[in-house]
Amino acid sequence: MSEQEGCPVKNWATDYDVLDEEYVRDPVPLWKELRESCPIAHTTRWGGSWLPTKYKDLQAMVRMVPELSSRAPNVMPPSPELRAELIAEAKQYGSESPPITADPPEQIAYRRMILPFFNPREVEKFRPSSEQLCHDLIDRFIANGSADAATDYAQQIPPRVIAAMLGIDPARGDDFTEWTRGVLELGQTQPELRTKYRKIIREFFAELVVERRRNPGDDMISKLIASEIEGQPLSDYTVIGMCNLLLVAGIDTTWSSIGSALWHFASHGDDRRRLAGDASLFGTAIEEMLRFYSPVTMARKVTEPVTMGDAQFIPGDKVLLNFPAANHDPEIFDRADEVVIDREKNRHIAFGVGIHRCAGSNLARMEMDVALRVWFERIPEFELSDPDSVTWVGGQVRGPRSVPVSFAV
Ligand code: HEM
Repeated sequence: MSEQEGCPVKNWATDYDVLDEEYVRDPVPLWKELRESCPIAHTTRWGGSWLPTKYKDLQAMVRMVPELSSRAPNVMPPSPELRAELIAEAKQYGSESPPITADPPEQIAYRRMILPFFNPREVEKFRPSSEQLCHDLIDRFIANGSADAATDYAQQIPPRVIAAMLGIDPARGDDFTEWTRGVLELGQTQPELRTKYRKIIREFFAELVVERRRNPGDDMISKLIASEIEGQPLSDYTVIGMCNLLLVAGIDTTWSSIGSALWHFASHGDDRRRLAGDASLFGTAIEEMLRFYSPVTMARKVTEPVTMGDAQFIPGDKVLLNFPAANHDPEIFDRADEVVIDREKNRHIAFGVGIHRCAGSNLARMEMDVALRVWFERIPEFELSDPDSVTWVGGQVRGPRSVPVSFAV
């Protein structure tokens, strides 16, 4: 952390801080201010970056390939040691965790390989077990009349569902959550944790790849091992990187979305009562939660000079794909800064847009649908028990990490 990081922001247009407490808790007013005064802001904090806030700019940026490259999609820079390691590995083995760290043409083949894992038919196979999981989680705390909707519920669901899909032990869900937080959340300000947990994840999958080569099954890891690109099998380095992506990409993203939704309904009684009384609203309410509380910001590395409005990107710069702010743009959304749970026209880009659009969106939607329906079926009336103790994290993924709620038993 440099001296600047942690200092109060004086000018959001030239010195924003994506980890500023106020911004993490409620970025919506700051996006509005920036959209009106400086739609593509700049900062030198955290290694320097650009921050767009308009929907049309985001739509244009995702199409700027290869000028804006995906080879370094993390919002926060790695430690110098990890950076050197990643550069050396890229030279030797190619993209680290394709498709998310790759550009076309390479990206296209890897993306084609994983899309079938997440088609609606495959995802629906995991709905009954996901429902059972949600009921089991609620059984553990319902008699208490209180729970932490983030840690006791939202956080528990995605690691176990993706574990089942990957064919790894769902009972290790807490480990997977710890590793993901280490890489994506805590690792943002403590780069040594990012390095440590990256190593743990890669070693975990390295062992599994050896095992699945010996005993192939019907799981994603075995299918990746059996895949080929232009007649060539994938290297172990690539299979491990892809498994890493498939494990990590769906954990704190989806738990953040489920957690934000439960936070919203716990703190907005009118919306909660409306949804509890009309199950036909789940579809639009979930899309509105994804729009309003979009958790994911991605980064791109500039490889060729680009001018957009007053902003001039030069090679080596980082651009943050601020999908969450785009989803609040009043040029696109009526009442953009209000939650409207029956919003009909909702072309949000919480899952990104363009060639890297989220490969797991069907799964994320299924998990949100199951998590919210089961919660509302069992606990239709609930509220925040201690609003001051709610905590949020931000940066690459924004969401609540503690949401204490109480309910009648
Ligand atoms: C609410 C939950 C989720 C949100 C908001 C979300 C959001 C995103 C976004 C914004 C991207 C675009 C990345 C970019 O443009 O660089 C992305 C990509 C991706 N997501 Fe998700 N995601 C979620 C859940 C999941 C789940 C459950 C999985 C399953 C493993 C998943 C797997 C992926 C993969 C593999 C990519 C890379 C696609 C590519 O590069 O072609 N995501 N996600």
